[in-house]
Amino acid sequence: MAAGDRGGTVLALATEPRFAQRLRRYLEEERLLDARYRLQKVPGGSVALPVLEAKLAEQRLRALRESGPLGLPCRLLRIQSPIPSKAASVRTPAQKLRSELQRMVLGLGESWSEELERDVPRSWQRHGDLVLLSEDSFSAALWTKLGIGYFTLPYLVHAAAAFAHACEWNHHAVEALRRNLALNGVQDRCHIHHGDNRQLRLQDVADRVNLGLIPSSEEGWPVACRVLKKGTGGVLHIHHNVEALPAPPCLQPAVPRNEQRPPEDSSSGERELQSPEEMEGSGKEMPAARVRPEWQRWAEASAAWIRGLLEELHGQPWRTSILHIEAVKSYAPHVHHIVLDLECRPALPA
Ligand SMILES: C[S@@+](CC[C@H](N)C(=O)[O-])C[C@H]1O[C@@H](n2cnc3c(N)ncnc32)[C@H](O)[C@@H]1O
Repeated sequence: MAAGDRGGTVLALATEPRFAQRLRRYLEEERLLDARYRLQKVPGGSVALPVLEAKLAEQRLRALRESGPLGLPCRLLRIQSPIPSKAASVRTPAQKLRSELQRMVLGLGESWSEELERDVPRSWQRHGDLVLLSEDSFSAALWTKLGIGYFTLPYLVHAAAAFAHACEWNHHAVEALRRNLALNGVQDRCHIHHGDNRQLRLQDVADRVNLGLIPSSEEGWPVACRVLKKGTGGVLHIHHNVEALPAPPCLQPAVPRNEQRPPEDSSSGERELQSPEEMEGSGKEMPAARVRPEWQRWAEASAAWIRGLLEELHGQPWRTSILHIEAVKSYAPHVHHIVLDLECRPALPA
């Protein structure tokens, strides 16, 4: 219940239904109507109009009670559990952000403080899928402890992965991940390897490897090849920042082989999507973007490189194929964070 209300009640002027609209207009003009709550029927058939209970209003209301505004018959009463008005129930994005963060912080067993309240941004600029916040927001120490595990947790919680090995060398991140695994009840299905992932002593266990480092995860590729299951292979999800200058409008999009469609299909318009540059600043979510020639070239070079690593490691032929290229977000002008889903399998004996 809002401040100033007494025990969940609000002050109201009740009048006969036929006078309600006149009284409402009068209270609005006099800035006495409490717009946070709806007009509502009260026992006896009257309509109660919530009024603001500021001191000035109280004085006026005393006068109103004695003579009645505009000579209308009305009485002062209190409404129990007033119903919020439509306008009051519509929350601004800033209010939604604040209450979501508050819910998250309380859910993690932390307390919501004045400092956090001040720290939450009230406004921001949105450019496509990029949000610009003022640099003094989210400066409280608590924020650095949260949000960790955005790869590991979705794999375990939403993708129902049987088991995950998480590599992390920052001990704050390790601690936060440990806590978040427990909060989500999935700690038994995750092994955290605390240290440099390039030193990882693990092999032949994984169906999928997420290489979530940008600008490049290349240093982790040899380890990723080693942890993939030797007998069946799997899929690598490779994050990378790729620079691509804007394409002239006449250029056709390059599409990974297995995403190519027959000509009649392309006329359906399903791939007639805006480029990330066009989306930037449009305020819309960036849909699956066109695969730029630069992304395709990088993906093909990476696929060839990784095939070489696997063949060298196992001493037998492997094949790698591009399953999908996902544009995650615009990272800087003409630089995009993309993810290559690369299938890697030992080649079947001829
Ligand atoms: C973009 S975040 C990845 C998401 C994070 N692992 C999670 O699930 O929340 C990159 C993380 O990789 C860690 N990192 C970077 N290089 C590393 C390395 N060589 N070995 C282990 N962790 C590394 C960083 O400390 C950072 O927390």
